[in-house]
Amino acid sequence: MSKSGALSAIRHHAKVRFTHCRLRSRLRLYSDLFLHDMGATLADDIEQGQATGSEFRTIATLRVSERPHFLHNGRATTLQEADTGARGQGAAAARNFEALSQPKEKELLAFLNCI
Ligand code: HEM
Repeated sequence: MSKSGALSAIRHHAKVRFTHCRLRSRLRLYSDLFLHDMGATLADDIEQGQATGSEFRTIATLRVSERPHFLHNGRATTLQEADTGARGQGAAAARNFEALSQPKEKELLAFLNCI
């Protein structure tokens, strides 16, 4: 996968910038905060608000590397597992991640480790 392909997938997580009214500082959440159907593999069959049993909201991936586990049920213990675990609407991103060359994968993980 090309660098621009990987980076365009990252942009999905980078759409939202919050402006704090008083401090006027910008906080990059690296999330679109939307609900996405992640498919049967990640489904917990719990309907919550507008979310069906296989829909989850992209949480802020800001400081994601500081978390001990990932995804809504904590099933992923490494960023690689979190990146490849997506199905449904996230399946293409997971496939793209798996297709990355080692240097490009390293580059993406370095990015996730520094945000
Ligand atoms: C290179 C592209 C992508 C990367 C590196 C990436 C990375 C990640 C990571 C690390 C998490 C776990 C966050 C945590 O639990 O703290 C996550 C969760 C999630 N991502 Fe992505 N993501 C990518 C693309 C996408 C795309 C294209 C979609 C949807 C169309 C998506 C939807 C989601 C959702 C809904 C979650 C939460 C899933 C759950 O809680 O089970 N991601 N992503």
